[in-house]
Amino acid sequence: MQSFFKLTRPATEALAEKHGTPLLVLSLDQVRANYRFLAEHLPGVKVHYAVKANPDRRLVAALADMGSCFDAASDGEMLDLAAMGVAPGRIIYANPIKTAGGLAVAKRTGVNRFTFDSEHEIGRIARAVPGGTVLLRIRVENPQALVDLNKKFGAPPEDALRLLRLAREQGLDVAGLCFHVGSQSTSAKAYTDAIGVCRRLGEAAAADGFKLRFLDIGGGFPIPTPQEDVDVAAMLAEIRAALAVSFPDTEIWCEPGRFICGTAVNLVTRVIGIQTRNSQQWYFLDEGLYGTFSGVIFDHWDFALETFREGKQIAATFAGPSCDSFDVMFRDKLTVPLAVDDLILVPNCGAYTSASATTFNGFAKANIVIWEEVRDELAAKV
Ligand SMILES: Cc1ncc(COP(=O)(O)O)c(C=O)c1O
Repeated sequence: MQSFFKLTRPATEALAEKHGTPLLVLSLDQVRANYRFLAEHLPGVKVHYAVKANPDRRLVAALADMGSCFDAASDGEMLDLAAMGVAPGRIIYANPIKTAGGLAVAKRTGVNRFTFDSEHEIGRIARAVPGGTVLLRIRVENPQALVDLNKKFGAPPEDALRLLRLAREQGLDVAGLCFHVGSQSTSAKAYTDAIGVCRRLGEAAAADGFKLRFLDIGGGFPIPTPQEDVDVAAMLAEIRAALAVSFPDTEIWCEPGRFICGTAVNLVTRVIGIQTRNSQQWYFLDEGLYGTFSGVIFDHWDFALETFREGKQIAATFAGPSCDSFDVMFRDKLTVPLAVDDLILVPNCGAYTSASATTFNGFAKANIVIWEEVRDELAAKV
C-alpha cells in the first residue's frame, strides 16, 4: 500500500498560525510519488495528467519536469500549458465536445491530438485542424464509479466503425480508441471489460483498413476514502495483464487526475461558529461548499474531518461561512464535540476541490502553500 501526505498536529497548528485558515498544503513530493507509482505499475503507458483535477501551476510544473504528458479540457488549460513551456506534442485535447475557442487555440498552439464521440465533432475538428489526429471515445458501462462520465460521453460501440470511417473520409488521422470508466473506479473489471470492447472494435477497424496506433484508457484510478482503501497496485496488475493480451503492440496512454493530485493536499480549516438547531449540533467552518468543499457537490466526495480532540462522538452538521443556506457540507457527520477556534485537518483534499472553488460572498479561495517550501520554516517550531 502507498503512504500518503498527512500533516501532524504540530505542523497543522504552526501552519495555521503562520498562514491563516482556510489553508491548502500541497506536497509536490506526494505528486511525484503518485506519478512514479503509476509509471512503475503501468510500465510503458504514457501518463497524461488531467489538468482539470487540480490545475495548480506548481503541481503541473513538477509533473512536466518528470516528463508527464497532459490531458487538457479547454482553451484555458492549453494556454496555461503552452505558457509553461509544455510542448504541444505532449498534450491531448481530450474533451469530446470542444468549443470554437478551444479548437482555435489548439490550432494556434500546435496541439494536434483530440478525442471525439459524435458525427458533428468530426467536421468541426477537420475544419479547424485539417489532418488532426483523433481517438474515438467509446462508451463503457460502469455504474459503480463515483462519477459516471459515461452518461454524458462516449459513442456506443455499435456506432464506432461508422464514426471512424466518417473521420477518415474527412481527412483526419484516425489513430485510436479511448474510454473513461468514470472517476474513482474501485475495480479493475470496468477497465478490463472496456479493453475487451476496444479489442473487438480494433479488430473490426483493422479489417476495414485502419491502423490504430493508440489506446487511451482514461483516468478513474482511485484514492482512499474515509470508508475504503483500494489496493491500486493489484488493480493496475489486472489492467496491465489485459493490455498485454489485447494490445501488445499499441502505444497505451492514460489520463489520471484524482490519483495524481488527490492525496497530495491537506486542507486546514477552523471552526468559526457553533449553534444548536432542532437539537442538532451545528459547526460553522471558515471553508465551505463554495470553496474547497465544492467537491461535495461536483465530485460527490465525502471528506474525512480529523480533529485534535478526544471524546464521545456525536452526529453534527458542518456548514460553510457564506450567508447561503445551501452552504452545508455534511449532515449527521460523526465527530467529537468541537469548540470555536478548533482546527480541522482534511487529508486527501487535492482533486476536484480548489479546482471548482469560487469566491462567492466575497470569500477568497483558500491560499495554497507548498509543503516542501514551508516545512523548513516550521522545523524550529515542530
Ligand atoms: C476526459 C477525462 N480524462 C481524465 C479525467 C480524469 O479522471 P480522474 O480524475 O477520475 O482520473 C476526466 C475527469 O473528468 C476526464 O473527463
